[in-house]
Amino acid sequence: MRLYKSRSEIKAMRTAAKISAKAHQRAMRICRPGMMEYQLEAEIIHECARLGALFQAYPAIVGGGGNGCVLHYIDNRDELQDGDLVLIDAGCEYDYYAADITRTFPVNGLFSAAQRELYELVLAAQEAAIAQAKSGNHWNDPHQAAVKVVTKGLVELGILKGSVPKLIKDKAYGKYYVHSTGHWLGMDVHDVGDYKIDGEWRQLEPGMTLTVEPGIYIPKGTRGIAAKWRNIGIRIEDDVLVTKDGPDVLTKDAPKTVEEIESLMGKLAK
Ligand code: GLY
Ligand code: MN
Ligand code: MN
Repeated sequence: MRLYKSRSEIKAMRTAAKISAKAHQRAMRICRPGMMEYQLEAEIIHECARLGALFQAYPAIVGGGGNGCVLHYIDNRDELQDGDLVLIDAGCEYDYYAADITRTFPVNGLFSAAQRELYELVLAAQEAAIAQAKSGNHWNDPHQAAVKVVTKGLVELGILKGSVPKLIKDKAYGKYYVHSTGHWLGMDVHDVGDYKIDGEWRQLEPGMTLTVEPGIYIPKGTRGIAAKWRNIGIRIEDDVLVTKDGPDVLTKDAPKTVEEIESLMGKLAK
């Protein structure tokens, strides 16, 4: 029952998604070097509450620089540094339904060349994965699409070396892409529901909602790659409703192209 959302459940999820997207916009607008991670968390909570969502669906993750590489980092106690990215994974609960959004953006409002290259790669992977979140495909199709784009992109950037099909087969991307591409979403942030039936990936059907959230994580101490790639953690996460007409991105109001982010943060002409 929880896997197939009714019209009223979808309405609640759309509202949770819209409010959470506004909270991410607020965090982007307010972020400055020297702020503390918990101060951005406070802005998220403030905006959600202001718009009628009094609870977060899970503790917000606000990680500057290398903290963005720590999955489920919730300390949120470090100072945000000029030149770093910050990863915010936060979503509210509205009428018992959860949103789950991640955005990654530059603390100072402007991506460096290296940050931008990795960011555009994660974004391309996420868009390829979202396109596969459609009725009739199976659960793992979005993940496979993301893995393909990430692996090819990491080879092009010189971070992985070798043939793309072999690197995919050997899961070489797993050094940097350390989790899967999503989960069911609903009353809980990681909602109930089987991913496989009789050992086979389940088919996606209209009314199901899932997250699509690829990431690339390159912590400080990573060896064997150029220094410019280190200390970068990027994840982009949206909430997608499967419909008979294709994927419906509930969280599309949260800016995610480089241009949208830099413009909102005041670094590009409006
Ligand atoms: N916020 C937890 C997750 O993205 O799965
Ligand atoms: Mn998630
Ligand atoms: Mn999340």
